[in-house]
Amino acid sequence: VVLVVDFGAQYAQLIARRVREARVYSEIVPSTMPVAEMLAKNPKAIILSGGPSSVYAEGAPRLDRAIFEAGVPVFGMCYGFQLMATTLGGTVDNTGAREYGRTPLHVSRAGSTLFEGTPVEQSVWMSHGDACSAAPEGFSVTASTDVVPVAAFENDEKKLYGVQYHPEVLHSTHGQQILEHFLYRGAGIEPSWTTGNVIEEQVAAIRAQVGGKRAICGLSGGVDSAVAAALVQKAIGSQLTCVYVDHGLMRKGETEQVEKDFVAATGANLVVVDAQERFLDALAGVSDPETKRKIIGREFIRVFEQAQLEILQEEGPEVAFLVQGTLYPDIVESGGGTGTANIKSHHNVGGLPDDIEFELVEPLRQLFKDEVRMVGQELGLPEEIVQRQPFPGPGLGIRIVGEVTKDRLDLLREADAIAREELTAAGLDREIWQCPVVLLADVRSVGVQGDGRTYGHPIVLRPVSSEDAMTADWSRLPYEVLAKISTRITNEVADVNRVVLDVTSKPPGTIEWE
Ligand code: XMP
Repeated sequence: VVLVVDFGAQYAQLIARRVREARVYSEIVPSTMPVAEMLAKNPKAIILSGGPSSVYAEGAPRLDRAIFEAGVPVFGMCYGFQLMATTLGGTVDNTGAREYGRTPLHVSRAGSTLFEGTPVEQSVWMSHGDACSAAPEGFSVTASTDVVPVAAFENDEKKLYGVQYHPEVLHSTHGQQILEHFLYRGAGIEPSWTTGNVIEEQVAAIRAQVGGKRAICGLSGGVDSAVAAALVQKAIGSQLTCVYVDHGLMRKGETEQVEKDFVAATGANLVVVDAQERFLDALAGVSDPETKRKIIGREFIRVFEQAQLEILQEEGPEVAFLVQGTLYPDIVESGGGTGTANIKSHHNVGGLPDDIEFELVEPLRQLFKDEVRMVGQELGLPEEIVQRQPFPGPGLGIRIVGEVTKDRLDLLREADAIAREELTAAGLDREIWQCPVVLLADVRSVGVQGDGRTYGHPIVLRPVSSEDAMTADWSRLPYEVLAKISTRITNEVADVNRVVLDVTSKPPGTIEWE
């Protein structure tokens, strides 16, 4: 295993992901973990992530120098680089010389372990206030920028390496290569990890956790829960019952699709619970996004508990486990990482009530979305499920800005179906990550239709491109497609007289509106 020490930036999971792209298994550990405990995991290498602090700030995270003396190869990035520099006797100055964003890097030793085979001039992603002016003894400086004299240093003898920038982001043009050079050349690791390993490991782990008991899995219609369920099905077979809660917040035709496609692919036991009224009642009068998310999360669990009772009555042995398709980004964004801010309570993490009666089985907790798709493919799930675009657990409930009512849901379902139909017809499904369609229920504007004045609601189209939903850009869809969607929605959906396009990236916007 390669450990990625998280200094509290959202970069740590990106690093972990890049390491896995290099086919080396990685795990993230908090920087507060004692070094002895890290070393007890027998890591083949350790990577120190970036972080929001200055090494000079009071209370800035530190590291025991023992980490550099254990003979384990270490790669420091950004904050991790500066920490390595100061800990080992180099100099980091608070010069006030800041560099943010794309920066030219000058490689001074082209044949070095890290930079071998990459251009002498390359573009890298910087984000720092402090700068290293002298490398520690025994290190050679291998790159600089116009502002920073020491932008990379290497010590082949001790197998210690560092770069001031962020090689893990795509804007650092040779970042992946440099990371791989550290892993393969610096640390001498053979690339061998695949998603097949994940399946084997998880199947064994699930069997050990569940034993002879029963588990239920909530299916949401999305990729994550389907892959989680298929993985658990593979591990414990008929001990698993899948429950699909029709909370009335699904898109058009989705419930039918789950019943048909998923069962056909896995042969799993599926129970469908109609809870539409219950969710509408619980959501009545609520407009606050976090409150909606918490209510939907809570009701989900309650409905499962009820389903559990029913299954119990029918089948006997105790249902003790709840399978969830929680992904790594859900955990990080719900504040599960160290020092990261709570951005939204994803309904399958932060929204869980305290008196939950199940033990959770979350076989995808360490994975990113594209890795989940690969696992699903390997498990033999059909394309329609594996390549499905993400859809949030709280469904259309968080795509109505304002109170959720049945009429508004019906209206949004129609508009969403039109947008999806046209995007599919234009062959754009694989190009965009997802396209939330949002109803601004509390906003009305004046329009004119058929010689009459209208006073209707706007629909927002939010097409985005993304690699992992952590960051996203708005998709530049062809105008003809947008025009067609707009015309059809305003013609076919009553009470909608305007269609607008969201042209915000993430950050600063999130993908969903709530
Ligand atoms: P945001 O809006 O946070 O969304 O940029 C990132 C990705 O996560 C999806 N999403 C959710 N998925 N439960 C889920 O399973 C949720 O509560 C939830 N909220 C957002 C969103 O559609 C996007 O793909």
